[in-house]
Order: sequence, then C-alpha cells, then structure tokens
Amino acid sequence: MFDLLPEFWTPVLPVAEVENAPVAIEVAGERLVLFQNLKGEIGTLLDRCPHRSAALSLGRVSENGCLACPYHGWEFDRDGACTRVPFNNPADLKLSQLSAVGLPTRVIAGLVWIFTGKGNAPEPQLPDSLMKSQESYFIHHEIWNAHWTRVVENAMDYVHVPFVHRNSFGGEIGKSAIEAGSFAEFQITQREQSVEVFNNFHNIESGFLLEWHQPNLVVLKFDEIGMPVRVHLFAIPIDRHQTRYLNAIELLNPHAAGMMNEFIAPIVEDRVVIESQKGEIPPTNGECNVPTDRATLIFRCWYHQTIASKRVSI
Ligand code: FES
Ligand code: FE
Repeated sequence: MFDLLPEFWTPVLPVAEVENAPVAIEVAGERLVLFQNLKGEIGTLLDRCPHRSAALSLGRVSENGCLACPYHGWEFDRDGACTRVPFNNPADLKLSQLSAVGLPTRVIAGLVWIFTGKGNAPEPQLPDSLMKSQESYFIHHEIWNAHWTRVVENAMDYVHVPFVHRNSFGGEIGKSAIEAGSFAEFQITQREQSVEVFNNFHNIESGFLLEWHQPNLVVLKFDEIGMPVRVHLFAIPIDRHQTRYLNAIELLNPHAAGMMNEFIAPIVEDRVVIESQKGEIPPTNGECNVPTDRATLIFRCWYHQTIASKRVSI
C-alpha cells in the first residue's frame, strides 16, 4: 500500500475543498475518499467498499454524518467502522467485521493530512511555520506530469533559478552572478528528519535559506519588501507519472494576499522543465553530478535508501 510514499504523513488537499460531498482522490497509487462528518471532522477511507468493492466516493454523506455506499447503502464512520447495513437484522450481523479501511487523518495549516501506513501513526513532525491557523495560509495546487522526487529536487535546487526563471525573479540575480563570475556556495546542516541549506553566490549580495523536511516538503525562507516569507512546497505523489504540486504560503501580513500571484506565476517555468524529465530520480551514481548538486544528492541518497530500495514493485 502507498509504495510510492509509504509510512509518512502527507497533506493531500486543502480542507476547504472537502465539504459535505465525498471527494475522490488518488495518493501514491491508492484511490481514497475524503468526507466530512456532522461535527466537521474529516475522514479518509480507501475508496473501496468492503462489501462488493464499489467506489465509496460515488456515495453520499448520510443524515448521521457517515459515508453511505452507492451500491447497497452500507454506512461507514470516519474511521471506517460500519454503522449500518440496510435490510438486514442487526442481530444477524457482526458490524466489527464489515469495516472499510480508514486512514489516520488530521487537519493542519488548512490542509487535510493522511498517514500512508497501517497501525498507529506517529505524531507528525512539522516545522513551526505550519502550525498556524487555516486563515494564515494562501494555498494553491495543481497537477504536474512528473515523478514526485523530481519535483522535490527542483525545489531544493538553487542554481536552476537564473536559467529557468530568467524571465521572472531569477533574471536579475542570474545576470549579476554570471557577470561577476560567481560560484555557488552551500552551507548544509543535516538534522534527524530535515536538511537546512543556505545558498548564495560567493562574490555578490545574494542568498536564501531552504529546508527539506522528510519526505516531500521544501520550505523556502526569504524576505520580501522587509517581510519574512515562508513558502511550503509539497510534492504529493498521485501515481508514478503525476504529482500534486501544492504550495502553502504563510501570510505574515493580511495585505500580503494580494502579492501571492507573484509567487505562483513562475511555477509554470519550473513545470515545463520538470515535466521533460522522465521517471524518478536515479541513485547518486546515476546521471552526471557536480559540486552544485550537493544538496539534491542528499535527497537522492535518502530516497533510494529509505523508499526505492524497500518497495516490492511499482
Ligand atoms: Fe457497498 Fe454493497 S458494494 S454496500
Ligand atoms: Fe524554480
């Protein structure tokens, strides 16, 4: 289950998109259904009824706040427990044996998060900048035709900026760095579940901080007109060929919402290039590597040791 991203917490959609109607979504090769019960709590189930395998996402949320299957109307609560089987005498049933598969689900930073594993989920370990209320974030998401590892790597890669973004925010700094004959420098700090990278060019005023957090989050940290900005980039695998690129930008000032398009517009510049790469990132001895690939090679090493080497087949 979830071979592309097993045993991790990951966001899947903005909570604002999961209202009363069930929402079908694919994450890491698994079809899921998200729905909200009467208390406003979100549940995530595998999108497969335990009775005859119909898609639960075709059903509806019942008067009890349970998800009712479209085929024979069995109902399930947000943990997957079966609460009703129409036209059968309850005395003849063992409801505990009729459960759908539920996944641990949380709402954090205006996003629905799931744990892609069985059994008890550990507490999610997230940066402080994701611990604010839902209103504190501007959220944008779109689907890229790329493997999720290529998308994470792109977000960690400093020296693409003058080239991919030469017609937007990368143009000026790229021109200065090329004219000055600059070399890129990296100060890398590795932590248990994250890596901090300070990037700059050695002989001009430049630089910004990024953090990669296992497995699929990159936080970009910089100042914009004197305000600190935190851009959270998530690469959420849909399947081997598609990734949901989700941006959650912390609004440090209520007036900052109007500036968000400035951060979203250049995404298409990355997307065109990343969609031209085929397949997952190779191991660290694949493709050609140079010193400016130091940060992304840390991610490649982790990915192949932690995920790629353990999967049965994808
Ligand atoms: Fe879902 Fe029969 S298939 S109730
Ligand atoms: Fe980019």
